[in-house]
Amino acid sequence: MKLPREFFKPLAIGAPTPIRELPVRPERMIHFFPPQNEKLRAKVPDMVTKVDVLLGNLEDAIPADAKEAARAGFIEIARAVDFGHTGLWTRVNALNSPWILDDVIEVVGAIGHKLDVIMLPKVEGPWDIHYLDQLLAQLEAKHQIAKPILIHAILETAQGVNNVEAIASASPRMHGMSLGPADLAASRGMKTTRVGGGHPFYGVLADADPNAPDAPRTLFQQDPWHFTIARMVDACLAAGLRAFYGPFGDFSDAPACEAQFRNAFLLGCSGAWSLHPSQIDIAKRVFSPEVPEVLFAKRILDAMPDGTGAVMIDGKMQDDATWKQAKVIVDLARLVAEKDPELAAAYEF
Ligand code: GLV
Ligand code: MG
Repeated sequence: MKLPREFFKPLAIGAPTPIRELPVRPERMIHFFPPQNEKLRAKVPDMVTKVDVLLGNLEDAIPADAKEAARAGFIEIARAVDFGHTGLWTRVNALNSPWILDDVIEVVGAIGHKLDVIMLPKVEGPWDIHYLDQLLAQLEAKHQIAKPILIHAILETAQGVNNVEAIASASPRMHGMSLGPADLAASRGMKTTRVGGGHPFYGVLADADPNAPDAPRTLFQQDPWHFTIARMVDACLAAGLRAFYGPFGDFSDAPACEAQFRNAFLLGCSGAWSLHPSQIDIAKRVFSPEVPEVLFAKRILDAMPDGTGAVMIDGKMQDDATWKQAKVIVDLARLVAEKDPELAAAYEF
């Protein structure tokens, strides 16, 4: 275990100092696009105005013979577009794949100063994070990148789930984690071919009626992801990171997608992946700051212009600490409002 005083030191001479607090940013949806596709690349400037995070996917779903085109396409579009407050992320290939080294070296070398987060798939333990952490520090030093590139782990193997706390606290470069239900189901030997959501056979059977023991009984479906999401949320939030639900594969079932996203939101997740444009609005609905919460937070800021002292609002005491909580909510709501005129009106900005 690294000594506390070493933890926040740069891992390479000339690399930027690691951050201590994550930047306040809306991350309601991490929108995936396949960067080798020219038509979808052309839509990126418009997408930037609609989503909180845009992620160029280099890993699964990109065919082996398109891996290099995806990497080149991502670099091209990242260079060309101004992302403003929209997060620019990439999902690189797994650490044991033939592509990862060039993914990291080429992407960071070309557009590292614009890249916010690298999503690392199939993370098994803290050793995976340490490897990427060191490599990124070397590349940041080499390319004189001023802002540390953060790491987001996908929790999608049984071993990764076993090591989830150690992964969360492996480096100050950690941004958070996403649940990867497809790979995790395969790794665990779960008997499902679905990507997220419930399963008709996973449930609890209502008790038999003693007066009619042979009468049909209802099976109440349960959420097979509940345990892992809660475990991931505890590990992330305890370490000051953010937790995310990952992909929902059935694009034709919007209500089921919304239910899965809402379960994750209620358990503590900040956002989810959108793999299809229709899932962007679902994520916005589920993960935006609550209107009454924002309006109350604005009242706190108005009542304490310099953030000190104590006031009573609706019988509740407010002081420097609640002022800081209110500021986080209002800052986030302002960023959300820039993307969302309807919410801007509801938040009364
Ligand atoms: C995502 O990568 C998943 O495997 O579900
Ligand atoms: Mg996966």
